[in-house]
Amino acid sequence: MLCSLNAWPDPKTPTLPASSSQLIKVGFRPATTAGLPALGTYDAALVPGPAPSNQSTAMKNVKFDFSNFTALVTGGASGMGAQVARLFAQAGADVFVVDTNAALAAQTAEAIGAIAMVGDVSDPEFCNRVVADAVARTGRLDAVVNAAGTIARRTGIETSNEDWQRAMAVNAGGVFYMGRAAARHMRAHGGGVVVNFGSIWGELGGPGALAYASSKGAVHQVTRTFALELARDGVRFNCVCPGEVDTPMLRAAGRVVPLNDAQAAEMGQRVVPMGRLAQPQEIAQVAVFLCSDAASYMTGAMVYVDGGYSTQ
Ligand SMILES: NC(=O)c1ccc[n+]([C@@H]2O[C@H](COP(=O)([O-])OP(=O)(O)OC[C@H]3O[C@@H](n4cnc5c(N)ncnc54)[C@H](O)[C@@H]3O)[C@@H](O)[C@H]2O)c1
Repeated sequence: MLCSLNAWPDPKTPTLPASSSQLIKVGFRPATTAGLPALGTYDAALVPGPAPSNQSTAMKNVKFDFSNFTALVTGGASGMGAQVARLFAQAGADVFVVDTNAALAAQTAEAIGAIAMVGDVSDPEFCNRVVADAVARTGRLDAVVNAAGTIARRTGIETSNEDWQRAMAVNAGGVFYMGRAAARHMRAHGGGVVVNFGSIWGELGGPGALAYASSKGAVHQVTRTFALELARDGVRFNCVCPGEVDTPMLRAAGRVVPLNDAQAAEMGQRVVPMGRLAQPQEIAQVAVFLCSDAASYMTGAMVYVDGGYSTQ
């Protein structure tokens, strides 16, 4: 099923039952050990819950607390970015939805109580303005999740100059420009977290989508390099690397287009070891985890969330 705003749970009615949850406090702590409470007094804890079934897509036993926390989500109008924005908002963060799609950004932002910022992340000046605006409005910037992305499904031989330039400008450039603007602020203000959307194809190669796979490889290296450069400044950079996720991007530009429900189910069964496509929330919850103190020792990581695909 395509991600539908109308199908979202009411943000005021979290799907996470309080009785089976424990809060993960995320009033931002830097990645350096300075300032961390001693072991044993740390208030972030994952509580063992019932084992998720193969079809489970929701966080039933983990609840994040992102109060006093500002998050920017690029590509936040649709798909996985929209789910990241929703999870942040449900957990109390001030959220900015950054997207080229003005109508959808406004709709998403209104549904979750966020602020929409419309523009193109391939424009470095826009990225600088977005960071400055978020800081001016909330006085802080704790996390940036870069989910904006574009794909042209063409082999290397078919790929045009424009396909190449657009993929590199949006996917690689957007992650660099947003990451640079965020890192400059975060390093000067005690730290922060950046999570970039890479892809299994950024490591494995992507036959039939050369420009996209190449741009995602660049995303991985931008992430690793920022992570190493800023590891002692309290700024963490990580990548979430999805496999095949049932989003508007996959339905409109997947291996088969347009992809109907039966074809999506068949493709998941055939291609993914777990036998199904991911739902956007299943990737979003990992991105949000990476922004939390529960991931305080993670930087420079490529986190594959792919139902086993890259292990084959
Ligand atoms: N769907 C998958 O199977 C899959 C797999 C691996 C990685 N990814 C990556 O995950 C991320 C999210 O993808 P999705 O599947 O949720 O896609 P989606 O198409 O549902 O959402 C992408 C959003 O990015 C926005 N966007 C595109 N170009 C932009 C730009 N230049 N500036 C600002 N916003 C822009 C779009 O308007 C859209 O709202 C992307 O980076 C994508 O490459 C997706």
